[in-house]
Amino acid sequence: MSTRALIVDPSAPEHIGFGTLPEPVAGPGQVLIEVSHASLNYADLNNARNGRIPAGAPVGLDAAGIVLQAAADGSGPAAGSRVVLFADGAFAERVAVDTSAVAEVPDGVDPAQAAALPTAGLAALRSLRAAHTGPGKRVLVTGASGGVGRYAVRLASRAGAHVIASVGSLARGDGLAEAGADEVVVGLDDIREPVDIVVETVGGPHLVTAWRLLAPGGNLQSVGWTSGASAVFPPYATVGPPKTLTSYVNEFAAADDLAELVRLVADGGLVPEIGWRGSWERFAEAADALRSRRVAGKAVFDLPSHR
Ligand SMILES: NC(=O)c1ccc[n+]([C@@H]2O[C@H](COP(=O)([O-])OP(=O)(O)OC[C@H]3O[C@@H](n4cnc5c(N)ncnc54)[C@H](OP(=O)(O)O)[C@@H]3O)[C@@H](O)[C@H]2O)c1
Repeated sequence: MSTRALIVDPSAPEHIGFGTLPEPVAGPGQVLIEVSHASLNYADLNNARNGRIPAGAPVGLDAAGIVLQAAADGSGPAAGSRVVLFADGAFAERVAVDTSAVAEVPDGVDPAQAAALPTAGLAALRSLRAAHTGPGKRVLVTGASGGVGRYAVRLASRAGAHVIASVGSLARGDGLAEAGADEVVVGLDDIREPVDIVVETVGGPHLVTAWRLLAPGGNLQSVGWTSGASAVFPPYATVGPPKTLTSYVNEFAAADDLAELVRLVADGGLVPEIGWRGSWERFAEAADALRSRRVAGKAVFDLPSHR
């Protein structure tokens, strides 16, 4: 038996194409999952090109599905449970993953919504937590139209912060006021008051301007760099009253935070926005939409086991 997967293929567009892998075998602390949905991230596209995932290995980080086989060591969810997972190699019909990488999906949460959560939701949740987001704080979210940005807007608003959502155009800001943004701005030039926290996903000149807007004592979480542009700081930009720039990366073993994200969705406190949805056979189309800034929120794939 074998499992079909999206693998690193340097001859394919985006260096990602379909391949066949040996059937996964779960180790003692792992569950075997039949994947029904998965979501696409910039990291998947980057990892296929930068060598982090070698040729022939499966890509993907975010998925949801059903546990086919529980872990032999007794940890994690039982067979038949609906789960969300955050682990390398998620874009496959079946995956074996550590139980520390999965959380059960509560009743009422659609598996496509659950699959839209891990990478972007964890980045938003953990970066806002690390920055001590709370009532009255002024929080700037750059790239607010995207996956991380839309979750960060909702979570910061839920925490009682004053949320400023920065987008590339007014049209890209659709839905952000309803999601909790107090201000939706195009670019960063119209922000007059300093901010306490920045969730920064664009990099380049955005990072430089966001740093300038940061108040003394403030914290900028550098989560992403979709612009691909260099950040050039003018002389003395980093000299002055203390404020901090913190680099951010999603660590694995995210079961507890995945559980929190799905619980928030079940409670209505977090709403995954799916801006592109289709069969995983349409992978190239989804990748193009993501790169072309045409996805509002997340791109989600349906796999063949989706019923
Ligand atoms: N560190 C981590 O662990 C971690 C976790 C998750 C994501 N990330 C990174 O965070 C970044 C955002 O991820 P995402 O999933 O939110 O991506 P996304 O859904 O594509 O959203 C990114 C947003 O950035 C803006 N953008 C894209 N290209 C741009 C450009 N050339 N110049 C200015 N703005 C641009 C777009 O907003 P407009 O169209 O409105 O301009 C887009 O909506 C990526 O770099 C990703 O790799 C890192």
